[in-house]
Amino acid sequence: MFDGQPSRTAMGAAAHRAIHQLVEEGRVLRDPLAIPILGETVETLRQRALDRPQDRGLRFFIAARSELAEAKLAQAVEQRGVSQLVVLGAGLDTLSCRSPFGERLVIHEVDHPATQAWKIARLAAAGIPVPDHVRFTPVDFERMSLLDALVTAGFDVNRRSFFLWLGTVPYLTGQAVSATLRLIGGLPGGSEVVFDYAEPIENHDTSADHIRALSERVAAAGEPLVSWFTPAALRADLCAAGLDHCEDFTVRGLAERHWGKEAVAARMASGSPLSERGGHVLYARSPIRP
Ligand SMILES: C[S@@+](CC[C@H](N)C(=O)[O-])C[C@H]1O[C@@H](n2cnc3c(N)ncnc32)[C@H](O)[C@@H]1O
Repeated sequence: MFDGQPSRTAMGAAAHRAIHQLVEEGRVLRDPLAIPILGETVETLRQRALDRPQDRGLRFFIAARSELAEAKLAQAVEQRGVSQLVVLGAGLDTLSCRSPFGERLVIHEVDHPATQAWKIARLAAAGIPVPDHVRFTPVDFERMSLLDALVTAGFDVNRRSFFLWLGTVPYLTGQAVSATLRLIGGLPGGSEVVFDYAEPIENHDTSADHIRALSERVAAAGEPLVSWFTPAALRADLCAAGLDHCEDFTVRGLAERHWGKEAVAARMASGSPLSERGGHVLYARSPIRP
């Protein structure tokens, strides 16, 4: 990230969610705050979608990872008593301002200080109310202790928690990712997490050209992709961190979740393949303690 400036990739991801509300009418992720928080006109967003038809796949991935994370969160709250949500690298994600769980779910938004200050200003400018159960905690994951910052903000390590960590892992060093996974997996109250990751470029199948282009774009924006994982190595890290239940979704898996296996098989057969070795969304949780 450029010093003292908000994350450009956070702006990019938010624009994809906003355009998804217009072009796909929010069919994967319904987010009524996605356009207001961005502060751009509908005309500008529509034009961007027309100018960049190649963004369709990435837009689907960004909407689908949020939808999956929010569905897993809902199960965790209803079935396993999760009462704290930590949104790591929150960017302009709007879940904290539209959470359906009210005060049952205390929400901690954590982000790089410059990005978080910009988000708080964007929320105020758009007139989006921030509920009382939302707390903002600025943290640089590479330089500060996430746990200390959370505990200072009132996070209770003994209550079961959910971590939403979208669009951020690829930008962090392997060391910061491992430390965060160990923190999440080691919490005495138990925890669950959803994050996305990318396999090394040489593993990618149909998505190789897209990931190369994305990698160049984000590096030019001061936020290079630095962490890549293979599914097997990541699973071993998660188990070692205490997160022994894992579900890994490929792009094809996400598409099947939304459009069904038959529709996806028909699409593959018609010569429009969907990646099975590229971007992934991972859900993991620690055992439920009595
Ligand atoms: C691609 S954006 C994703 C934002 C949001 N989760 C979303 O899906 O729209 C990456 C996020 O990671 C955050 N980030 C990157 N490096 C960070 C660091 N070292 N410490 C804290 N946050 C960081 C950025 O501020 C930004 O909000």
